[in-house]
Amino acid sequence: MSTNEILLAEITRLKKERNALILAHNYQVEEVQDIADFVGDSFFLSQKAAAATEEVIVFCGVHFMAESAAILAPDKTVLLPAADAGCPLADFADAEQVRQWRARHPQAAVVAYINSSAEVKAEADICCTSANAIKVVESLPHDEIIFLPDGNLGHYVASHFPEKTFHLWPGYCITHHRITPEDVQAVRERHPQAEILVHPECQPSVVALADFVGSTSQILDRVAKSPAKTLIIGTEMGVIHGLKKNHPDKEIYLLSSGLVCPNMKRTTLQKIHHALENLEMRVTVAEPVRAKAYAALQRMLAVGR
Ligand code: 13P
Repeated sequence: MSTNEILLAEITRLKKERNALILAHNYQVEEVQDIADFVGDSFFLSQKAAAATEEVIVFCGVHFMAESAAILAPDKTVLLPAADAGCPLADFADAEQVRQWRARHPQAAVVAYINSSAEVKAEADICCTSANAIKVVESLPHDEIIFLPDGNLGHYVASHFPEKTFHLWPGYCITHHRITPEDVQAVRERHPQAEILVHPECQPSVVALADFVGSTSQILDRVAKSPAKTLIIGTEMGVIHGLKKNHPDKEIYLLSSGLVCPNMKRTTLQKIHHALENLEMRVTVAEPVRAKAYAALQRMLAVGR
């Protein structure tokens, strides 16, 4: 057996022994996606964490994802194998700032993107993911919305509700924000027949030029249904693995170079093994923050996608 095969066999053994569920985001490296019980976007993985029957959830993603699982499944042991996998987008907002914005706009509903800390979620009326942000805002009777922390996603959502007033947080994802409209124009010239699919964390000027906008899983679904033979993807490179595997007949390219989230790439098979063996690093959220954040996440799950 190769070292990798021994490692995989050990993970399989420990997974059974610990009664663990392995969840992996679409941005995880190939071998991590391949070992997971479920691979998907933030919405799907939240659903899976909330419904888990196993005692341990190993979350192969970044901190706010494992934290959301811990909020939704407080009786489970939630492990984040890459202890240092943060999210610079989530770091744009803290709870005190949210309270200040609410005080400035007392009539507004606070919608927190799942890419936020537990403390920020606890200050929100409802959470959303990129898969259901429009549906979440649609579910609210409010004329005014504070949308945080992703201003690009907020702008995309706001464009669907011209009758509402949006207060957009000035945060962004460094990976998606680097895609420019010039990148889109360049690929259009090179591949005039191609369909261009982007994540709503991209800048409004990029979203405006795309053929399809959706979460990572919505992009994967669209590629499966699209009649186009060439597809250009504007999100983190992790989605390419599944796309190439499932559609060998299609030409699939990334919209620009450097679409890598370094935090998502921190999870390795070795770290998953360590997490299962030592039950580390455990992610917990103290009451009453957890209970308040749970209410906001639960409302989001009730809206659906
Ligand atoms: P989705 O998981 O909703 O596609 O969003 C991707 C992302 O921003 C992860 O941080």
